Amino acid sequence: MAKLSLPLLALSIFFSTSLCCPDDQKLALLRFKSSLLHTLNSSTQYSLFGLDSWNASSDCCHWDMVTCSSHSNSRKVVALQLYSLLLAEQPIPIPSMVLSPLSRIQSLMLLDISSNSIAGEIPASVFANLSKLVHLDMMQNNFSGSIPPQIFRLRYLQYLDMSSNSLEGVIAKEVGSLLNLRVLKLDDNSLGGYIPEEIGNLTKLQQLNLRSNHFVGRIPSSVLFLKDLEIMELRDNSLSMEIPKDIGDLTNLTTLALSDNRLTGGITSSIQKLHKLKILRLENNFLSGGIPTWLFDIKSLKDLFLGGNNLTWNNIVNLEPKCMLDQLSLSSCRLAGRIPDWILTQKDIVFLDLSKNKLQGPFPEWLAEMDIGSIFLSDNNLTGSLPPRLFRSESLSVLALSRNSFSGELPSNIGDAIKVMILVLSGNSFSGQIPKSISKIYRLILLDLSGNRFSGNIPDFRPNLLLAYIDFSYNELSGEIPVIFSQETRILSLGKNMFSGKLPSNLTDLNKLEHLDLHDNRIAGELPISLCQMSTLQVLDLRNNTLEGSIPSTINNLTNLRILDVSSNNLSGEIPAKLGNLVGMIDTPSTIKPVSDVFTFPIEFSDLIVNWKKSKQGLSSHSLEIYSLLDLSKNQFSGQLPATLGHLKALKLLNISYNHLSGKDTRNIRQSRESREPGLVT
Ligand SMILES: *[C@@H]1O[C@H](CO)[C@@H](O)[C@H](O)[C@H]1NC(C)=O
Ligand SMILES: *[C@@H]1O[C@H](CO)[C@@H](O)[C@H](O)[C@H]1NC(C)=O
Ligand SMILES: *[C@@H]1O[C@H](CO)[C@@H](O)[C@H](O)[C@H]1NC(C)=O
Ligand SMILES: *[C@@H]1O[C@H](CO)[C@@H](O)[C@H](O)[C@H]1NC(C)=O
Ligand SMILES: *[C@@H]1O[C@H](CO)[C@@H](O)[C@H](O)[C@H]1NC(C)=O
Ligand SMILES: *[C@@H]1O[C@H](CO)[C@@H](O)[C@H](O)[C@H]1NC(C)=O
Ligand SMILES: *[C@@H]1O[C@H](CO)[C@@H](O)[C@H](O)[C@H]1NC(C)=O
Ligand SMILES: *[C@@H]1O[C@H](CO)[C@@H](O)[C@H](O)[C@H]1NC(C)=O
Ligand SMILES: *[C@@H]1O[C@H](CO)[C@@H](O)[C@H](O)[C@H]1NC(C)=O
Ligand SMILES: *[C@@H]1O[C@H](CO)[C@@H](O)[C@H](O)[C@H]1NC(C)=O
Ligand SMILES: *[C@@H]1O[C@H](CO)[C@@H](O)[C@H](O)[C@H]1NC(C)=O
Ligand SMILES: *[C@@H]1O[C@H](CO)[C@@H](O)[C@H](O)[C@H]1NC(C)=O
Repeated sequence: MAKLSLPLLALSIFFSTSLCCPDDQKLALLRFKSSLLHTLNSSTQYSLFGLDSWNASSDCCHWDMVTCSSHSNSRKVVALQLYSLLLAEQPIPIPSMVLSPLSRIQSLMLLDISSNSIAGEIPASVFANLSKLVHLDMMQNNFSGSIPPQIFRLRYLQYLDMSSNSLEGVIAKEVGSLLNLRVLKLDDNSLGGYIPEEIGNLTKLQQLNLRSNHFVGRIPSSVLFLKDLEIMELRDNSLSMEIPKDIGDLTNLTTLALSDNRLTGGITSSIQKLHKLKILRLENNFLSGGIPTWLFDIKSLKDLFLGGNNLTWNNIVNLEPKCMLDQLSLSSCRLAGRIPDWILTQKDIVFLDLSKNKLQGPFPEWLAEMDIGSIFLSDNNLTGSLPPRLFRSESLSVLALSRNSFSGELPSNIGDAIKVMILVLSGNSFSGQIPKSISKIYRLILLDLSGNRFSGNIPDFRPNLLLAYIDFSYNELSGEIPVIFSQETRILSLGKNMFSGKLPSNLTDLNKLEHLDLHDNRIAGELPISLCQMSTLQVLDLRNNTLEGSIPSTINNLTNLRILDVSSNNLSGEIPAKLGNLVGMIDTPSTIKPVSDVFTFPIEFSDLIVNWKKSKQGLSSHSLEIYSLLDLSKNQFSGQLPATLGHLKALKLLNISYNHLSGKDTRNIRQSRESREPGLVT
């Protein structure tokens, strides 16, 4: 959490019992405590850590989180470690003005106020007074506005961490005055503009982290003279340039992370001079040209990420790496032929991403034996069946093999891989039954078997207590709709199979279900009234089954429903007026996270196919949360169309065609909807 190493070594701390902390400093600290309590008074659910010992009758040098120093006759407060002060169920924004009293403690050398959800502008006047600061940690708050120039006048500063806030604006040139700075972390803010040349003035800089901001332009040439620089993290900005040729002069670099920018050109040969380099991250740029083999001669290299560029692998077969990698990503690097067997020399590898290439041939037995933790081989043309050895791995936690040409049955020992959390085998030609042993994989969270030729009944998944994301769509599975999944189930996609029977009334047991897709099956009978108890449902797709009866009038109980598709069934009766009360279609909530955001690596769910503008279209799982639609077409609905449907303001699509509806209301609704959304089909 708080990084204390640097400055605490520099501080000389003497514990003296005879001397007390100055009254004005004690008063300032008590004021800080009371303004903090005052702020929190209206909030109920929180507990404050460590300020209990702060009371007027004791020596503040003995308070928790306070450190005093003594150089001459009087002791002074030199360090305040006020990180993570409160534990609350939800972060309570603390206004930044609570810091005001601290401006009286001019002797402060270390101030750590990280992880406190302090919000608002950085109070410039406070820091103007704290001119002796050596170490300032403000990370993980919600400071906004720009960085006040007063911060850049703290000339003794060695450590400055303002990462993970909401800071905006540019880094002022004045940053170049912080001549003692060793660590500068401004990552994960909304800073932008050019990175100032003046950073090159910070000749003692060892760490520069500007990741996840909006910086444009180039790496300043002056930065390339920072000989002590060990870590340069400029990931996730909008830098556009070639990698500077003289980056190789930064011979102390251990981390060079430039991924998720707009870098162009090739991988410059000067990188081979970085003989201490451990982490090289260049993925997701516009780099082009060949991948140089000398990269694998950098002995210290541990993590190499080159995917998502326009790089070319020259298919060197007899590569003899001198490095021993932990992580390797060569996604979309035009690897062709078989999975290269020099990977076998990388005994320590835990993460391997060779997705989006043109690899052919089988899943090699030697790769199965390497016990790798995460394997991404999606979007290649690999064939054959999976070696059973793969699932005897002690380490396998992620296996993503989507869109290849794998075939055959899944090995019956698949359940031996008990550490697997993510298993994505979609878009292959796997066949046979889903092996029962999968239920032994108790850590499984996501299982995507869609787009294969699996047949038969679904085994019991209730032992997979964490399984939340299930996609078995586009297979040949049959039997009644099973309710044999964990209570954690959020997504259940069983569309385009051969399921039959009625909709089970105990679907309600899945009380976290958000997305239920059963389209293109042979489900018959009526919609169970119990369906209306599933208030977590956001997406309900029952298109093209043989459902009959009417829509229960309690349907408006589904307050989170945004997508309802019951088209191409045999539903009849009137369309319930209460459909117009579906809250999720009136006001699309903006809080819903797309599933793809839940995982930190690239996971593609199958698109939700809907009839859209007279043709079938897939709504990507990445943006499903923005859609709201109601498709009642191709049924036997009769009577008048309820005018209440006009309330559904968030609807992007309303389709009621091919029913037996009557009445003038239809046209009115159509007109009012079309005036809002030009792409509407009725
Ligand atoms: C909180 O507010 C109440 C009145 O609303 C007051 O009586 C109480 O002293 C306050 N507590 C603190 C810690 O300020
Ligand atoms: C003040 O805190 C000290 C410990 O730091 C404790 O011994 C003392 O009892 C406290 N006094 C009051 C009035 O709470
Ligand atoms: C700075 O500290 C001095 C001395 O304690 C004090 O007089 C002054 O008010 C402080 N400035 C601010 C802005 O708090
Ligand atoms: C941070 O503050 C901004 C306003 O400056 C606000 O929009 C945002 O919701 C806050 N974020 C958090 C996590 O509190
Ligand atoms: C940068 O350093 C040079 C001396 O090396 C100095 O003249 C200049 O004022 C510094 N710039 C800033 C902004 O501090
Ligand atoms: C590497 O850093 C050390 C200090 O950490 C420094 O003494 C040395 O000069 C640097 N190396 C080069 C080649 O500049
Ligand atoms: C990728 O590089 C090839 C040459 O290797 C070039 O023909 C092609 O236009 C580049 N594609 C993009 C999108 O830059
Ligand atoms: C995939 O490989 C098979 C032979 O193994 C070949 O017939 C097929 O054309 C390949 N498909 C693509 C898209 O390269
Ligand atoms: C739901 O009911 C079916 C029989 O209709 C039963 O096989 C299944 O175990 C039930 N599921 C749950 C979770 O109770
Ligand atoms: C409806 O589903 C059946 C299989 O149950 C399929 O044969 C038919 O093509 C589907 N109709 C449409 C319009 O997709
Ligand atoms: C409405 O939903 C709640 C759960 O949110 C449920 O308890 C209640 O039974 C439902 N009412 C109807 C009529 O389905
Ligand atoms: C649809 O329902 C009607 C009665 O409402 C019935 O006559 C008809 O046979 C049903 N059609 C199908 C395909 O189930």
